Amino acid sequence: MVNRVLGIETSCDDTGVAIYDDERGLLAHALYSQIETHQEYGGVVPELAARDHIRKIVPLVDAVLNKAGCTQESINGVAYTCGPGLAGALLAGSAVAKGLAFAWRVPAVGVHHMEGHMLAPMLEDKAPEFPFVALLVSGGHTLLAEVKGIGQYKILGQTLDDAVGEAFDKTAKILGLGYPGGPAIAKVAEQGKPGRFEFPRPMVDRPGMDFSYSGLKTSALNTVAKNELDSQTISDIAHAFQEAAVDTLTIKCRRALKHTGAKRLVVAGGVGANKRLRTSLKTMTQTEQCELFFPRIEFCTDNGAMIAYAGAKRLHQANPEHAFQVKPRWSLEDLPPV
Ligand code: KG4
Ligand code: ZN
Repeated sequence: MVNRVLGIETSCDDTGVAIYDDERGLLAHALYSQIETHQEYGGVVPELAARDHIRKIVPLVDAVLNKAGCTQESINGVAYTCGPGLAGALLAGSAVAKGLAFAWRVPAVGVHHMEGHMLAPMLEDKAPEFPFVALLVSGGHTLLAEVKGIGQYKILGQTLDDAVGEAFDKTAKILGLGYPGGPAIAKVAEQGKPGRFEFPRPMVDRPGMDFSYSGLKTSALNTVAKNELDSQTISDIAHAFQEAAVDTLTIKCRRALKHTGAKRLVVAGGVGANKRLRTSLKTMTQTEQCELFFPRIEFCTDNGAMIAYAGAKRLHQANPEHAFQVKPRWSLEDLPPV
């Protein structure tokens, strides 16, 4: 049977809705970003995020059904982000997804947000084959995993403190740049003078594939305290921070490829949109004679398409009960294989 799944993503500050069809691929997707809602607070306010999702999900569902030119009767499953993420935001998406599934008499399946990110490159024309090494870099996660198939994940390393996206966001705040910090740092770093500041590459002198990013934020803080913050200095600090963050990720990815013997690297999650990271990993994988896969830029950050795709692959595992539970903390290694 062909699966045509409506996917709903609400784990943080983006409401994403999409329809994926096993035979025809992605039929439509739509996104509402809450950036403006949270900007004045300098970060995501969980309660405001949950309320905004409630307002936006149903209009977005109507919009994607229209865009895809399909009726609700043709949908045979609803997928929603079940975790990890902000509890209130997850509850908003889960409740709507379960309600729609009940009304449409189709199964509803809870999707792991990071599995969604990891499978996002499967939506591209050049999709990776298994096995591969995955680098997942977002606002809440930084991890390397060995992936042998859907649901066959072995975590090789992860952050011991801040996620790399979180480090971008915190450093941007220190520099007085806007939220979200990643794109803001990347933009001003283009004008940065290489070599004026040099930040440490955390954990690279130790064996293993774990990461640590809280020290980089401290380096930025110390540098700010010692210098006048004119626009050139802000660019120079942003540049030094980005170089250190990207270098560390590249070094650990090379280690993971060598450790597993895998010939493919898949990069996903919001920080995967970073151009400097993309070029650095391209150079490294060319040297190592490995293939590199990314989702398109708009599917690096949170979106409904990745949830619809993962949901289509896991629809047969849907829980037939109408009750639901969200999982704000949830390890990728706890997922069943497909
Ligand atoms: O995957 P995502 O949209 O949401 C989470 O699951 O967390 O990732 C958001 C994170 C934020 O920390 C944001 O600053 C970062 O991804 N980000 C970037 C870029 N675009 C988004 N970081 C660096 N460079 C970018 N271009
Ligand atoms: Zn995400």
